[in-house]
Amino acid sequence: MSAPADQTEGRPPFSGDGEPMAPAVDRTAGRGQSEGVPARGEADGSAFSPTGGPGVLHWQESTITEPGLDNRGGVFFAAIEMTRMPMVLTDPNKPDNPIAFANRAFLDLTGYAEDEVVGRNCRFLQGAQTDRDTVRELREAVAEKRAISVDILNYKRDGTPFWNGVFTGPVYGKDGRLLYFFASQLDITRRRTSEQSFRQAQKMESIGQLTAGLAHDFNNLLQVVEGSLEVVADEPLSDKQRRALDNAMRSADRGSRLTKQLLAFARKTRLEPKPTNVNALFVEFGEMLESTLGSGVELDLNLRQRLPHCLVDPTHLEMALLNVLINARDAMAPGGGTVTVSTALVRPDAHAAGAHDRMAPGEYVALSVRDAGPGMPAHVLERATEPFFTTKEVGKGTGLGLAMVQGFVQQSRGRLEIDSAPGKGTTVRMLFPTAAQAAAAGEAPDRPSGAGVGALRPGGGQHGAAETILVVEDSDDVLELARGHLSKLGYTVLTARSGEEALAAWDAAGGRVDLLFTDIVMPGGMNGLVLAEKLREQRPGLPVLLTTGYNDELAANGPRSPGMDVLGKPYRRSELADRLRAALNQAAARDGAVEAARRGPRQPHPAAEG
Ligand SMILES: Cc1cc2nc3c(=O)[nH]c(=O)nc-3n(C[C@H](O)[C@H](O)[C@H](O)COP(=O)(O)O)c2cc1C
Ligand SMILES: Nc1ncnc2c1ncn2[C@@H]1O[C@H](COP(=O)(O)OP(=O)(O)OP(=O)(O)O)[C@@H](O)[C@H]1O
Ligand SMILES: [Mg+2]
Repeated sequence: MSAPADQTEGRPPFSGDGEPMAPAVDRTAGRGQSEGVPARGEADGSAFSPTGGPGVLHWQESTITEPGLDNRGGVFFAAIEMTRMPMVLTDPNKPDNPIAFANRAFLDLTGYAEDEVVGRNCRFLQGAQTDRDTVRELREAVAEKRAISVDILNYKRDGTPFWNGVFTGPVYGKDGRLLYFFASQLDITRRRTSEQSFRQAQKMESIGQLTAGLAHDFNNLLQVVEGSLEVVADEPLSDKQRRALDNAMRSADRGSRLTKQLLAFARKTRLEPKPTNVNALFVEFGEMLESTLGSGVELDLNLRQRLPHCLVDPTHLEMALLNVLINARDAMAPGGGTVTVSTALVRPDAHAAGAHDRMAPGEYVALSVRDAGPGMPAHVLERATEPFFTTKEVGKGTGLGLAMVQGFVQQSRGRLEIDSAPGKGTTVRMLFPTAAQAAAAGEAPDRPSGAGVGALRPGGGQHGAAETILVVEDSDDVLELARGHLSKLGYTVLTARSGEEALAAWDAAGGRVDLLFTDIVMPGGMNGLVLAEKLREQRPGLPVLLTTGYNDELAANGPRSPGMDVLGKPYRRSELADRLRAALNQAAARDGAVEAARRGPRQPHPAAEG
């Protein structure tokens, strides 16, 4: 790479004396021997640039005075063999533009030996998942002798896929004849995958917010639909009307099941986690699981002995497990096969590739379901947990199964892992923190307020004993419905549409209110929790029943006091009656106990007999 000094004068790309460089110069000569066209950011586009930004000064095409590849005595050749940047030269004057030279770093990157690559077109690096559009971009650029930079999926000699940041540009001789194509490659897999999973996580987050909002409104609507249907059901009806009513009720029911799944996906379910023995759960649900799977599928249980309890909501776990098992069954239909369910104790890698979750370090109970189905291709696996993503026929799947499972597992501070590849079957693994670990971390899974209300049992009687209930609800329809239900149950009902109105109603009634029944999320400055606190300042121990369409932040993180219960929307009239009665009875029992403690011998409180 040495050359006579009598070549045309030009501007060196790197000026040794610190003189500012001028990227605007069209042709920059290499000390009179080679010259090139500065990239000026043109070739890079959105592709990866190893220099951290669009390349400006490096050449995107060049003209050389010494065409051969044989002079390998200079420091520049040594530099090419020493750099860790893979590079190749191809010879466009030979058929199919084969590699004429590949440096050591290229061999390191791809795992091939020199004699395995020289003489071949670079497309041997491409494979099944390589994007054909990107290949076309390369083909067009090469045909037009134009520099180009792309990110393309390539495969190493051993079949390992990697993302390759390729830059290529033409090299001309003095006579203007095309002599070579130069290219540099770089393994950008790690960057690509972390960007990808980050983008996916962000996308899921925003879908989650949208979903939660929608589901919240739908819950209010369904509340009105179901409640109104219940009112109609009490009336004398013809058979035809009764059938129509049953249809409507079933659809409303299905609607509320769907909203529940959406809320689970959005991690806004009202979970009631308990220390749970997952093995025992299997034994308990065994029969139900087998009947779900049907006769074509064999269930193989592989349960770890002495599995510690994990902290999880058993009802939702059952639902999640059902979703996963149904997927396994569907994957193996119609031939059937074996589904292996196993439990284990694991210590997951907190820094696992693509993990954007917030798992605390420690031990987790792993629950895996493995099927011998066809497995998922990469593009399905990538989206399997997206809500409404399904490959099933219309009417066969809604695409909410894994979305629900994912949301539930994350809300339980665990992790969902799916391992699947075509021809290899699918393993779905749910990790849940052990109860001991959750306690040590001082964390309960995300849960709504009203903690400890599990102890509340339905009261002895469902009907109101002329107590006064203050109902606060910003939706007129829901408010009307609640008023109707409660009046019918025999309660005296005061209503308000906001926290402020509620305070006024309280004052107007001289504080003669036996229970506050309020929505948590309300427009304006005061939400249901703040309202409850305010009223309790005036009357400590006032029974409060909160209601909410979803487990919003407030419900999850708000103050938790005894005697506050949460009723999820949509609720049935009977549920409302039970929970109200329970709250009133509990308050009465507490008052009774306080009174009795003051007076001495225990006396039953009249209201406690409900
Ligand atoms: C110098 C040079 C280097 C190249 N390096 C790669 C590479 O690393 N990976 C790749 O997938 N394609 C690479 N290509 C592109 C392929 O060689 C080929 O041009 C592309 O597949 C489009 O042509 P085809 O449709 O005939 O395959 C390179 C091309 C040139 C000219
Ligand atoms: N065990 C599995 N084997 C192969 N593919 C699976 C498996 N589990 C899920 N999938 C793929 O992931 C997609 C999404 O699954 P998901 O459970 O979320 O929805 P669905 O089963 O299609 O519908 P739904 O569960 O709402 O009835 C499925 O349509 C299927 O393509
Ligand atoms: Mg499913």
